[in-house]
Amino acid sequence: MVVPRLGRSVGHLLDRLCRHSGLLAQPLSGATARRGQASGRPGSNPGAPPGSYSALRAQAAREPAAFWGPLARDTLVWDTPFHTVWDCDFSSGKIGWFLGGQLNVSVNCLDQHVQKSPESVALIWEQDEPGTEVRITYRELLETTCRLANTLKRHEVHRGDRVAIYMPVSPLAVAAMLACARIGAIHTVVFAGFSAESLAGRINDAKCKVVITVNQGLRGGRVLELKKIVDEAVKLCPTVRCVLVAHRTDKKVSMGKLDVVLEQEMAKENPECAPESMNSEDMLFLLYTSGSTGTPKGLVHTQAGYLLYAALTHKLVFDYKPGDVFGCVADIGWITGHSYVVYGPLCNGATSVLFESTPVYPDAGRYWETVQRLQISQFYCAPTAVRLLLKYGDAWVKKYDLSSLRTLGSVGEPINHEAWEWLHKVVGDSRCTLVDTWWQTETGGICIAPRPSEEGAEIVPCMAMRPFYGIVPVIMDDKGSVMEGNGISGALCFSQAWPGMARTIYGNHARFLDAYFTAYPGYYFSGDGVYRTQSGYYQITGRVDDVINISGHRVGTAEIEDAMATHPSVPEAAVIGIPHDIKGEAAFAFIVLKDDVANSDVVEKELKSTVATKIAKYAVPDQILVVKRLPKTRSGKVMRRLLRKIVTSSSQDLGDTTTLEDPSVITEILNAYEKYKQPKC
Ligand code: PRX
Repeated sequence: MVVPRLGRSVGHLLDRLCRHSGLLAQPLSGATARRGQASGRPGSNPGAPPGSYSALRAQAAREPAAFWGPLARDTLVWDTPFHTVWDCDFSSGKIGWFLGGQLNVSVNCLDQHVQKSPESVALIWEQDEPGTEVRITYRELLETTCRLANTLKRHEVHRGDRVAIYMPVSPLAVAAMLACARIGAIHTVVFAGFSAESLAGRINDAKCKVVITVNQGLRGGRVLELKKIVDEAVKLCPTVRCVLVAHRTDKKVSMGKLDVVLEQEMAKENPECAPESMNSEDMLFLLYTSGSTGTPKGLVHTQAGYLLYAALTHKLVFDYKPGDVFGCVADIGWITGHSYVVYGPLCNGATSVLFESTPVYPDAGRYWETVQRLQISQFYCAPTAVRLLLKYGDAWVKKYDLSSLRTLGSVGEPINHEAWEWLHKVVGDSRCTLVDTWWQTETGGICIAPRPSEEGAEIVPCMAMRPFYGIVPVIMDDKGSVMEGNGISGALCFSQAWPGMARTIYGNHARFLDAYFTAYPGYYFSGDGVYRTQSGYYQITGRVDDVINISGHRVGTAEIEDAMATHPSVPEAAVIGIPHDIKGEAAFAFIVLKDDVANSDVVEKELKSTVATKIAKYAVPDQILVVKRLPKTRSGKVMRRLLRKIVTSSSQDLGDTTTLEDPSVITEILNAYEKYKQPKC
């Protein structure tokens, strides 16, 4: 193991890059599969001052190897230097960064900081009960990680094995992720709100050997029976050999033959564990997310590129500075938690807040009381929480001193004007920078955000605005042609690879190619629509596929439909997303019932419970409408577009309905919907 070199600040590196006016000699062998000059790509921009956002952006697009190579070399701690910066080709879905290099992600997130400043605080665990926060230093986190890594090894977890983590946000959950990274195992964190069936599906797809969980979780004053859910799940999972159970509460839970008390095991282990040297492109983690088909996909992120991208975006988008307390309130079960609670902040040696509670526990001032007490500098949250909180009024914010805040961020779904203005004016006192950040599980880190930018550049409300370095957006029309110029909207694609992007779907590269590289050959297709304003900024317009976003949680309409179709009385179901005041979107289901169903209310209740059991509570449709038939094209495809129009549009114009097999279905559904809307007495 090479002794870690202490990383120099990325700001310094960017300065250095710029002093060479973007014309750094390329020290390493460059790209092996370059693409031609794509539209929307920043050109050489000769007028841009060195070091400016535009100069750096142009360089990252023009010479990825010269941009990313030195950054990767100097930011990360390597065991073996890489020989090739990138080797990517979107036509074949080949994505590789920093080839030949070896490193360990946990060394980058822990050891390098322990060497320099062991007692600096890595994590502040903001527990469910306010005022009971726990601080964990880098030294302590390294020790815990090593004990957990040794425990995993003792339970026969080897390099390349998969480990499922089903835990609430906690230092032990972070240590579990880093312990996997330390020994070269691949973690898959499953959000602790998913049902036993969803958990089992993920464990089976990844063929996990071990599951790490807790006896119970605590959230918003409520107890979550996580161990019970794991018990139910592992019954369906033949690959699981052991369940490591940590204790969040004093409650004793029943322990079966696979179960082991994690704390006891860790206490027996050595607090040191030699890190595995991993190849840059070895898998670091899988994270399951929804697509347009019924089965969630396990996106694969790899070691070096992901870590560099998470660290760099964390620093530059949020203006993170040493000494700041970084507060991202996302759950570690989502990509936001991976990149901006764990990997990005820890790689930068930051103090990262782990938020276990909810925005309204014990009251609507919880976030702001936490900001004041922990002196949080950056606060990163989801628009759905902001929409909820603003309804409680400004007094809950004004009660607290929020002067420690410098940057506010929003993520996960479009932020509406009211929420943006409230966050900016009331929470940020009109003095904080507010960044609406667009990205995805697939992108690994933030791709479009108002910062970085030219010094003091404007921020337009509710807009992600500017591509990050190395991100080259391209807008496509319906026919798959690149749209030029400004004031246009279409499908959001990217023409060039960046280090943080996912490499494949676990066990199914064909699906990866199909989902992201087939609709627009040679480009990565995000699934979102976008508008490029007259000023050249990017504004996300929402998903263009059958994925909906409920409270910032992504779910495929097909997933909900598949769950509903398991009900014996429901031969068919079609689900659409409809606007919702707080959640952003809610699911609306159209169902067809078998003729012999006597009481549709009972079936509806059962359907809601089925969706909660098969997926998660958040995916349960708010509304269910019984119809005789679904509107189908002559080829048998359900026209969800038509259903959306019926529910969300006041106009009579339902668009082109000529492909419908039987147009009389429209009147049928319209009548059913009118009746449904009438108040029930
Ligand atoms: O539709 C976009 C929406 O969330 C999707 C990605 O969801 P997920 O993979 O769960 O990751 C969420 C956290 C990164 C995107 O395809 N989305 C994300 N951020 C924004 C957004 N929509 C509008 N504005 C955003 N800032």
